[in-house]
Amino acid sequence: MTEITFRALHAEDAACLRLMLYHAIYVPPGDVPPPLTIVDQPDIARYIADFGQRAGDSGVLALADGVCIGAAWVRLMEGYGFIAADVPELSIALVPEYRGQGIGSQLLDRVLAALRSEFTHISLSVSLDNPAKRLYERIGFQEWAINAGTATMRLTLPPAAE
Ligand SMILES: CC(C)(COP(=O)(O)OP(=O)(O)OC[C@H]1O[C@@H](n2cnc3c(N)ncnc32)[C@H](O)[C@@H]1OP(=O)(O)O)[C@@H](O)C(=O)NCCC(=O)NCCS
Repeated sequence: MTEITFRALHAEDAACLRLMLYHAIYVPPGDVPPPLTIVDQPDIARYIADFGQRAGDSGVLALADGVCIGAAWVRLMEGYGFIAADVPELSIALVPEYRGQGIGSQLLDRVLAALRSEFTHISLSVSLDNPAKRLYERIGFQEWAINAGTATMRLTLPPAAE
C-alpha cells in the first residue's frame, strides 16, 4: 500500500514546488490545461521564486512512497490573494491522482499549525467555481473580496498553544 508522508518544504524542493504551482492553477472543466511553462510567467513565478530564502516562506510537502505529490506553502507577497503586508498568502495543490482522499486537508492542518506562533491571518485567492473553495470554507476561511469570478479569502488563525 502506498505510504503518504509529510515533511517541511526546503529550498532544495524547487522542482517539486514548480510542479505543484502548475497544478495549483485552476482549469475549469472542459478547458485545455495550459503548458507547464505558464509557471515561468512573472505573475505566477513570484509564488515560488527563491522559495525558502525570504522571511515568511514556509510550507509542507506530501510524499507518496517518498515521491513528492503535493504541497501547501505560504509567502509574504503581493499576489492575487493580497490583503496586507503581514498576511502571508497560501497556495496548495496535489497531483490529480491523489486528490479527494484527505491529503490536502492534512497538508492544510500541518502548514497552518506551524504558522500560529508567527501570524494572525492567512489569505488566498480562489476561483468561485473551484471546488477547493468548499474546503477552505470548511476550515474557516471567509470571503474578504470578490473580483472577476475570483474570491480573496482570509483565515483568522487561533493563537498558538502555550
Ligand atoms: C485543493 C486540493 C489541494 C485539496 O486537496 P484534496 O486532498 O483533494 O482535498 P481533501 O480530500 O482533503 O478534501 C476534499 C475537498 O477538497 C476539494 N477538492 C476535491 N477534489 C478537488 C479537485 N479536483 N479540485 C479542487 N478541489 C478539490 C473539495 O473542496 C473537497 O470538498 P468536498 O468533498 O466538499 O467537495 C486538491 O484537490 C487540488 O490539488 N486541487 C487542484 C488544485 C487547486 O485547485 N488548488 C487550489 C487553488 S486555489
